[in-house]
Parts: sequence; structure tokens; C-alpha cells
Amino acid sequence: VRIVCVAGARPNYMKIKPVMDALERRGAEVVLVHTGQHYDESMNGVFFTDLGIRPPDRFLGVGSGTHAEQTGRVMAAFEPLLAEIAPDAVVVVGDINSTVACALVTAKAGPLLAHVEAGLRSRDWTMPEEVNRVVTDRVSDYLLAPSPDAAGNLRAEGYRDDQIHVVGNVMIDSLLANLDRARGSGVLDRLGLAPGGYGLVTLHRPANVDDPEVLTGLLKALGEVAARCPLVLPVHPRAAGRLAELGVPDGVRLIPPAGYLDFIALQDSARIVLTDSGGVQEETTALGVPCVTLRDNTERPVTVEQGTNVLAGRDPERIVATAHTVLDDPPAPRRPELWDGHAGDRVADVLLDGLAAPANGRPR
Ligand code: UD1
Ligand code: UDP
Repeated sequence: VRIVCVAGARPNYMKIKPVMDALERRGAEVVLVHTGQHYDESMNGVFFTDLGIRPPDRFLGVGSGTHAEQTGRVMAAFEPLLAEIAPDAVVVVGDINSTVACALVTAKAGPLLAHVEAGLRSRDWTMPEEVNRVVTDRVSDYLLAPSPDAAGNLRAEGYRDDQIHVVGNVMIDSLLANLDRARGSGVLDRLGLAPGGYGLVTLHRPANVDDPEVLTGLLKALGEVAARCPLVLPVHPRAAGRLAELGVPDGVRLIPPAGYLDFIALQDSARIVLTDSGGVQEETTALGVPCVTLRDNTERPVTVEQGTNVLAGRDPERIVATAHTVLDDPPAPRRPELWDGHAGDRVADVLLDGLAAPANGRPR
């Protein structure tokens, strides 16, 4: 059995690795296709080293661009490659432009398509990722959901039960597999930080960093939180220019994007995390670290209902008040069901069982 696994940007690598490993353990031939959506060493290369992913078998090299340019370039490059590789199935993860582009190509080309992280919905159509999620799910045969709420969304949209499989969270497979190594990364010493003595911030959603007025408000809030707990902010390239222009308040320290092991260690020892990242909401829940999400909505409600996540929106006063509440009284965490380090195995079992089914009935 030959299976193409697609990755393209920072939040893909820690999701695809456990799936690749589980497929290969079961004897499948895995072809790793990298779209090249992210390409800086700090957004890309370091994750291959830290996670022990072999170099991609094929590289599309699409780089940055508008949504249409980037999505279109991935599609145009992936189509002939898929015809050449002729896999039995394609696995896409997450919600980035590379995910939807490869999904659309696969749906018309013939191989079975599996979407890992299916069913997440923010119901916020101003988020490019929401479009990517809904479209990717619609053309996928196998919808591999991280949590029961995601499966519920899919059922409500009319997908059939035989398409939907709650497999747990592959990102947490990587987190648990690498936690000990991360704790030995030495990043706190390198940065002169004490465990529990700092807060960690990430910002990269277009709605937060592309509009200078919004970003100014967020920085004001961060400055006030930093007066109580100094903050470290690894800067995503999307936000780098604007942060340099606007400048950051005292107590907020900018550092380059962190590698995977360093960033896990920084989360693990943080007193509080403030973020607009999707994955970071999940990792803080798994680690039991308080998380204040700088968005009005989340496609990952399980992190609020069971985990350590609190939605604070983008209003500076509300962010500061939420951060103080969380610092005074950190939420008690519960790790969601099936976030147990074995989601990749469940993905592989569903997919290989489906491919082996006598009728090879397409669920879609
Ligand atoms: C993308 C994903 C987003 C994900 C994020 C993870 C889409 C629509 N967005 O957003 O869902 O949360 O990745 O980090 O797919 N850049 C560099 N170096 C790089 C990559 C990007 O400098 O290696 C800069 C470029 O100026 C680029 C900008 O960052 O234009 C944005 O990159 P892009 O991949 O388009 O979107 P992200 O904001 O990274
Ligand atoms: N991450 C990292 N270094 C950083 C910021 C994030 O290694 O400086 C990791 C983080 O631990 C998680 C993933 O990147 O595994 C999340 O990706 P990102 O926040 O870029 O995207 P999103 O999850 O919002 O799509």
C-alpha cells in the first residue's frame, strides 16, 4: 500500500510525523510531499531535526503568496506528482492552504483522501482556515476527528457515521513523545528564564497582526500583563514587520521563532500562555498550563470545556482582566479523551482497514 502524506507549514510537521510512523510500522510505503508553504529554517527545517522527520521525498517549493496564488501553485504542482506517484491514499492534516489544495487535487484524481483533524469549526468565516477546514472535509473520504465535538459538527453537517472516526489528537502524540527531550533542551538557561517565572506569547492570526490598530491594542494589554509576569514572544514572520514598526512595551521580550523542542519546553515551564494559535491551545491543555486565547472564538472548544483554555477576545481590558484571573486562580486541567499519544496508530488503522476492505467502498 502506498500512501502520500502531505505537509507544508509549521503546524503540520508535528501532526504528520506520528501518522507517517504508524503507517510505516504497519508496512505501508509512505511518500512525504512537502509543499514548501513555510521555508525558513526556523519555521521549517528545525522541525525536521527536532521531530526526527526524514527529508521530504518530494518538494513542491511553492513559497509565499496570496491565498489564490499559494493554493493554486500547490494544486498545479501536486496534480502531476500525484499522477506519477499513483498512491492508494493521500493524508492531509490541519487547515492550511496546502491542506485544502492537495485535498481538492486528490478528490478529483482518485486516491482515497483522509483528513486528519477533521470537523473543527470556529464558525468564523473571516478566518481563512475555516474555509480550508470545511472544503477539505467536504471532499475527504475519511474524516479523522480529534474529539467528539468535532465528530458532532460533522454529523450535523450530514456526513455519514462510516466516514467519521474519533481518533484523538495526533499533535499530542508528538508532544508526549518529545516532552522529555524538550525538558532537556536547555532553552530556559539559554534565555535566562526561571520555571514559572515568565509568560509565553504567540501572535500570528491575520485578524490580530495585520491591522496595526488591533495589534496596538493587543500590545498594550501584553504590556500590562508583563508588569506582573514578564513575557517572552517568539515572533512569527507574519508579525515581524509590524512588531518592529510598532515597538513592544517594557517586559515583553521578542525572540526569533522557537524550534519545536524549545517551544514545548517554554510552554511547559510557563506560568501563563497568551496565544492566537490553534495548536498551542491544545498543547497547553495537554500540559496543564493556563492558556488565554486572544480570539473571540475557537474551533477547539474541548480545550475550554475540559482543558486550561480561556477565550479572552481582542479587547485589551478584557485580556488583562482574564490574565489576572488566570494568574490568581489557574484552571484545573483535564486531558481530553484519546489525547493519549496513540492517535497516529488509530489513523493508520482506520485508513489501512478501509483500503483492505473487499469492496473498497468509498465512504465519500
Ligand atoms: C499559515 C497558515 C495558518 C497557520 C500558520 C502557522 C494558511 C492560510 N495559513 O499562516 O493557518 O496557523 O501558517 O504558522 O495556510 N513567511 C516567512 N517565512 C516562512 C513562511 C512565511 O517569512 O517560512 C512570511 C511571508 O512573508 C508570508 C507570511 O509569512 O507572506 C505568511 O505566510 P503564510 O504561509 O501565507 O501564512 P501564515 O500567516 O504563516
Ligand atoms: N511552535 C513552535 N515554535 C514557535 C511557535 C509555535 O514550535 O515559536 C509550535 C507549537 O508548539 C505547535 C505549533 O508550532 O506545535 C503550532 O503552530 P502555529 O501556532 O504556527 O499554527 P496554528 O496551530 O495556529 O495553525
